[in-house]
Amino acid sequence: MVITIDGPAGAGKSTVAKLLAKKLGFAFMDTGAMYRALTVKAMRCQVRLEDAEALVALAKKTHIDLLNEPGQPLKVLLDGEDVSEAIRATDVTNNTFYIARTPGVRHVMVEWQQLMGRRQSMVGDGRDLGTVVFPEAEFKFYLDADFAVRCQRRIDELKSKGQPVDPKDLERDLAERDHQDISRKVGPLKQADDAILVDSTRMSVEEAVDFMFSRIKSKI
Ligand code: C5P
Repeated sequence: MVITIDGPAGAGKSTVAKLLAKKLGFAFMDTGAMYRALTVKAMRCQVRLEDAEALVALAKKTHIDLLNEPGQPLKVLLDGEDVSEAIRATDVTNNTFYIARTPGVRHVMVEWQQLMGRRQSMVGDGRDLGTVVFPEAEFKFYLDADFAVRCQRRIDELKSKGQPVDPKDLERDLAERDHQDISRKVGPLKQADDAILVDSTRMSVEEAVDFMFSRIKSKI
């Protein structure tokens, strides 16, 4: 069984998806982490981020794995190396759009994700899971929240990790990322017609998870 959670940055998708997966005993697939991991590799290899062909070639010779271990945070492996922390750096976040806008790279990513979805029951979060990657998913959710709330959540998250954060920069970057995700030609951020909209503006993480869990349980 595949459950998809799409939505904009800062809506809480990863946190909710992780907890929902745990509750259901499913694997968790953070597809944003995969785009981020390839960005790390492209930056390290000094591939020109505007060079679509080079990015596709790089994707084809890269191995990205998501490791679900009981009781452990998701591990993101880039050619076997644990890059779970490196992928969260601000410059990686801001450069991921070059990778995500490249159709050939998305094609490679979608194939990997579909392969993972065939292997195990899972909860995946991203932008295009309900529309492109798993159009036949059993349950689809679109998690959204007001812009100001999404910004505040990101600020709290970075502060809790001890990372410096300028609220104005963060607001600008998040708005820019929303725009890039929505306006991209291939695999844009979009609510699938059959996805259930969950507005988490006034919901706690637990409430969002419980809401999704009860919708799933009522049908299986
Ligand atoms: O979810 P997260 O914010 O970590 O994703 C990082 C970036 O990866 C997003 O801004 C988006 O551009 C891209 N992404 C995507 N398709 C997905 C997941 C993430 O294009 N399925």
